[in-house]
Amino acid sequence: MTRPFDRRFPQLAARLPRRRLADLPTPLELAPRLGAALGLPALLIKRDDLSGQAYGGNKLRKLEYLLGEALARGCDTVLTFGAAGSNHALATAVYASQLGLECHAILSEQVQTPWVADTLRWHLQLGTQLTPAASYAQMLEAAANIRARHPGGAERMYEIPWGGSSPLGTIGFVAAGFEMAAQLADMGMQGPVRIYVACGTMGSVAGLVLGLHLAGSHATVVAVPILPMERIAAPAIAALCDAASRLMQEQDASVPACPDPQSRFEFRSGFLGAGYAQATREGIEAMCLAEELAGLKTETTYTAKALACLIADARSGRLDGAVPVFWQTLNSQPKPPGLGAVDIARLPVDLRRYL
Ligand SMILES: Cc1ncc(COP(=O)(O)O)c(C=O)c1O
Repeated sequence: MTRPFDRRFPQLAARLPRRRLADLPTPLELAPRLGAALGLPALLIKRDDLSGQAYGGNKLRKLEYLLGEALARGCDTVLTFGAAGSNHALATAVYASQLGLECHAILSEQVQTPWVADTLRWHLQLGTQLTPAASYAQMLEAAANIRARHPGGAERMYEIPWGGSSPLGTIGFVAAGFEMAAQLADMGMQGPVRIYVACGTMGSVAGLVLGLHLAGSHATVVAVPILPMERIAAPAIAALCDAASRLMQEQDASVPACPDPQSRFEFRSGFLGAGYAQATREGIEAMCLAEELAGLKTETTYTAKALACLIADARSGRLDGAVPVFWQTLNSQPKPPGLGAVDIARLPVDLRRYL
């Protein structure tokens, strides 16, 4: 089925590289029990956890374009970056392996969470080449070494930035904005809508802002940062909107501009707590409510913090009649069998402490 974004910009769809990997559209569902517990007439959940059969979550939308470009360029390997428990690095490895591409992931340190160990075991099972790094400078140095040593030459290695949030990857979420606008229209949602999204490398929020605008939707994106403010900021989100917008216009001059993107989203620090991957009390409460009342699994690094913001707004009256949407960005597909049996001696020493 042709996706709404491709229908609106067929020339762009024909020119951008893409490999179809995702099951789209993902469902947009009412969560009546969770909504009622928060005193809301309606609460919607965007089920991006179901975006892919092997591994769902928000990253697959970006990877369709990024891995599509890797294949179009004739690359045989991808190289990406993330924290030790990065969902992005794992999603990249899962789909690179499906496409017959080798995957290198350079992983930085993070605080321990209950999810890191299985992520690393899954990488081992996939055969991801893992390189630990203690600092940003070390990550860049490791990347330069890997590129220089690549047997096919550096040009056969496709580099994917943190979180897949290059301008091209961001376009995956521009398309998600069109998908959401179409679903809201189908549901007859005429009034104000507020979409809560965990914001890390910013591509999901930037793409959504752009996509909703281009699709003519007035829904507000609420960006909930899960990294410290020096890494994520409203002007950086706006700059990524501009870069993705320029990239689309280069391929198709009929794509309208998005003036003043910064006025089109709300940036809500205050739910991060002590830092990246550090659990917060509000996040743990949100995680428990989501599981108990909506059967939805979140986690304390990203999704529970975005949901905590939605819950706080519901309780404080800030929603003011708007229908809130929680964008479930976390994978919910089951882990593959056999993770317990992987040979952890193959894990670089500096990563073994997470196991
Ligand atoms: C589960 C989850 N939610 C949200 C995000 C944030 O998305 P983005 O990096 O596009 O801001 C990430 C990745 O960083 C993630 O893994």
